Amino acid sequence: MSNLATRSIAIAVTGASGAIYATRTIAALLERGCHLELVISDYGRRLLRDELGEAAMADKLLEFLVAKYGDGVRKGTYTLHSNRDLGAKIASGSQNCEGMAVVPCSMKTLAGIAHGLSRNLIERAADVMLKERRPLIIVPRETPMSLPQLRNMVLCAESGAMIMPAMPAFYQMPKTLDDLADFMAGKVLAALGFSHELYPSWKG
Ligand SMILES: Cc1cc2nc3c(=O)[nH]c(=O)nc-3n(C[C@H](O)[C@H](O)[C@H](O)COP(=O)(O)O)c2cc1C
Repeated sequence: MSNLATRSIAIAVTGASGAIYATRTIAALLERGCHLELVISDYGRRLLRDELGEAAMADKLLEFLVAKYGDGVRKGTYTLHSNRDLGAKIASGSQNCEGMAVVPCSMKTLAGIAHGLSRNLIERAADVMLKERRPLIIVPRETPMSLPQLRNMVLCAESGAMIMPAMPAFYQMPKTLDDLADFMAGKVLAALGFSHELYPSWKG
């Protein structure tokens, strides 16, 4: 249960490559004491396991996060929702969740959000963010992109979402995959209004 001082953010993880972007974003928000309303699609669960190993299974995520990012993640809390539960609290605009990130976002979920389909909790919660004019950060990953995929990004942007492609930069001289994940997680945090030091700011 979150109190008034706790920031509540929805995080959706879908079946696009880049599960490490999701775990770094989740860990960074937990380190800041947030309460997360977490939804992981079936293919999101598969990608967590395929890309990060058995230890990153959705049901054991906290242990994975502690092992990879340290005890600081225990400052926050999360509720893991079923993507089939359209009665979860983030399915309603009356809840206090202040923003949402879909990280990474598959082209399928992007299409569902673009067209307001609300077929599952991720799509519905994203739709709630758009209708309530709250921040919705979409981190799509696919290459190359088809015309329908490009159009779906435009539709989401026109509806008020921020399209933040999984395109880490290289000016910060990344040495590891974690450095690249830090960059994307930092971008998501900044868009949600959090200060961070996940990557150095450009000094010109
Ligand atoms: C190993 C693997 C990698 C995938 N990578 C991507 C990807 O990068 N982008 C994408 O849009 N779909 C990708 N897919 C396909 C999606 O997982 C698939 O369209 C799925 O239905 C998405 O469902 P979801 O949005 O409910 O998670 C991948 C699938 C697998 C099995």
